[in-house]
Amino acid sequence: MDTTFTIARDAPRLSRSPWRFALHFYLKSRYTLAAIFVFEAAQAACTILLPYAVKEIIDAVTLAHATGADIFATAKDALILFALLNLGIVLFSRASGAMLVLTGPFLRREIRRSLFSYIQHHSHRYFISHFAGSLANRIAEVSMSCMHALWTIAFDFYPLIIKSVVALVVLFAASGELALTLCLWLGVYIYVSFVLAQRCRVYAQDFAEARSIVTGKVVDSVTNVMNAKMFARRQYEEDYLTDYLNHEVDHAMRTYWYMEKLRWFQYGAAMVLMVSMVGYALKIWADGGLTVGEFSMVAGLAIMLIEAARGLSRSFLEFFEYLGNISDGVSVFVQPHEIVDRPGAARLQVSRGEIVFDDVSFSYPEGLAVFEHLDVTIEPRQQVGLVGFSGSGKSTFVNLILRFFECNAGSIRIDGQDILDVTQDSLRQNVSMIPQDPQLFHRSLMENIRYGRLDATDAEVVKAAQKAHAHGFILQTEHGYDSLVGERGVKLSGGQRQRVAIARAILKDAPILILDEATSSLDSVTEKKIQLGLANLMQGRTVVVVAHRLSTIANMDRILVFDEGRIVEDGSHDALLRIEGHYARLWNMQAGGFLPETDEN
Ligand SMILES: Nc1ncnc2c1ncn2[C@@H]1O[C@H](COP(=O)(O)OP(=O)(O)OP(=O)(O)O)[C@@H](O)[C@H]1O
Ligand SMILES: [Mg+2]
Repeated sequence: MDTTFTIARDAPRLSRSPWRFALHFYLKSRYTLAAIFVFEAAQAACTILLPYAVKEIIDAVTLAHATGADIFATAKDALILFALLNLGIVLFSRASGAMLVLTGPFLRREIRRSLFSYIQHHSHRYFISHFAGSLANRIAEVSMSCMHALWTIAFDFYPLIIKSVVALVVLFAASGELALTLCLWLGVYIYVSFVLAQRCRVYAQDFAEARSIVTGKVVDSVTNVMNAKMFARRQYEEDYLTDYLNHEVDHAMRTYWYMEKLRWFQYGAAMVLMVSMVGYALKIWADGGLTVGEFSMVAGLAIMLIEAARGLSRSFLEFFEYLGNISDGVSVFVQPHEIVDRPGAARLQVSRGEIVFDDVSFSYPEGLAVFEHLDVTIEPRQQVGLVGFSGSGKSTFVNLILRFFECNAGSIRIDGQDILDVTQDSLRQNVSMIPQDPQLFHRSLMENIRYGRLDATDAEVVKAAQKAHAHGFILQTEHGYDSLVGERGVKLSGGQRQRVAIARAILKDAPILILDEATSSLDSVTEKKIQLGLANLMQGRTVVVVAHRLSTIANMDRILVFDEGRIVEDGSHDALLRIEGHYARLWNMQAGGFLPETDEN
């Protein structure tokens, strides 16, 4: 792994090479896997020795015929060997099956857990540029493909190697020439199959990507089904998806046709060899170089080996298909973590709650500059309102405090500690943020509120809900606090979601509080009602409130007016009204009846 590849300290170490990625997990089950390999070897050896046992039987029967002895007495040992080999196949294969049961589910769990843990460390930006659906799909595909690749090695490649070695040794004893010919053929055949099959990996990777895109599109369409309904665009959505499905079909065809071409080579070569080996053996037999039993053994072994080699070349294709799937997933997941804790990062200690933006410049990647040389100090326990036009940088400002993005230059300090020098967890534990459009888990209301503080008792949760004026509507839902809220909280109204988010922040009880339009979806009456709860929450804390509805922030200690990333006005409500600038204009517009929130003023 190169040195520029930054990974969060407590994230699992995953390789970007698909092969090493998989190996990392296989090694976790090395003991059961070793047992599988031992049992498979034993089973393969038994299988390949069967023709030898048959040969012994035939030779014994031929002998008995010639001497007039009792057939069963003469063939007794050979028959016992035959029975034992069959018993061995049953026992070893089932023992290996049992090991498989012990390994498979465990490995799949580990792979999915590690991938999930790894991507949780990705930045906010990573998740806004990847489809949730395709990420989920890829996690499933990668874990399945890792398992299948392993089974291909353990149950296809490996037994074949054992079988070939045993068969060649047995054959060698019967006929050196035959063994050598077969050996040569096997070598060339396997090499060519392997080289050709490798190409399959590239095709399979593209195919896997096309599949993930389709899943992402389906999830996006389903999530936006309301848009499709509102604009009566069902047909459009179907056609839209069909384009991506066709794209997937193209890739599937390309992959499968390539595999088909390869199989022509594989089957053809196997057929030619099968026929010529039997003919060859027949000739040696006719020349007196083999007994009847030896002939049947040689023919049996050759057919078995060729069959196995043909199977192997099929597995090569599948194996490289799996590797392609893993490559696709790994290339998406195993990317550097953009925002990581510095080595030895301390925990943020908030005693007063001062927030300083010191010469901060920030632009979104591939975006226009939002802030240039921004300087602002939010005093301890100050309550600050942010106003400004849409797109002026208010949300960006609060997202920087939470380090969802990192400044390009300058620093942000909380109580004198640069937020880049403290752990992200400690930073976010000390800051409560209520976003404009809070998203909830599809879990019960109780769990959603308790997310603020996991060890809160039911009574504490209810108390927080009461303060946030959420208790009333929660009791009216079908199962009260046990009601599920739907994906991202869709079964609640926007204002109800906001109140759940406020309750959650009340429970979290962090020294710094940020509200980004946290009450924007509430009607003025409900907002007034929870003002008391909010006022309690804001008491003695540093508070930053973003609001378009100026009445929400009129009584804050200080108001910052943003315009295109600059703070153009800074002062209390009264002071800003006096200078008759931007804020005064906005205020007069809202108070003058242009906007509906005026009633309560
Ligand atoms: N994730 C992002 N990637 C790129 N550009 C972004 C991103 N988020 C916001 N921007 C851009 O940054 C600028 C500031 O956006 P920001 O969300 O901070 O505005 P805002 O003041 O909160 O607006 P609003 O009042 O509408 O919420 C905008 O021009 C916006 O397009
Ligand atoms: Mg915003």
